[in-house]
Amino acid sequence: TNKKQIEVTFLKADGERLKVKANVGDTLLDVVVNNNVDLEGFGACEGTLTCSTCHLIFTQKDYDQLPDKPTDEELDMLDLAYELSDTSRLGCQIILSESMEGLEVKVPASIHDVRAE
Ligand code: FES
Repeated sequence: TNKKQIEVTFLKADGERLKVKANVGDTLLDVVVNNNVDLEGFGACEGTLTCSTCHLIFTQKDYDQLPDKPTDEELDMLDLAYELSDTSRLGCQIILSESMEGLEVKVPASIHDVRAE
């Protein structure tokens, strides 16, 4: 019961900021699911790298500090995301560490479920 927690903020396109407590070791998808963060359609494939709905945009600084580089599978899926940026990642592939305390990520205005086509 003594899991380390950090604070993570999801910045929605409409300006709303959703600040939640997140367990270290969870993915950003876990955080959205476990906190019932209100992001319509987010995480549709449940982290199996087949949807791109978990697309999040990091600041350059945070992006550079992420421990793992995206895999080819993640990059392929990101290519299909709307509003792709140089600092885009898929939330289901990002595992939280203590050093990410205070992380802020932008949620794109449109969520694109590639499976819906
Ligand atoms: Fe589908 Fe991340 S939840 S790719």
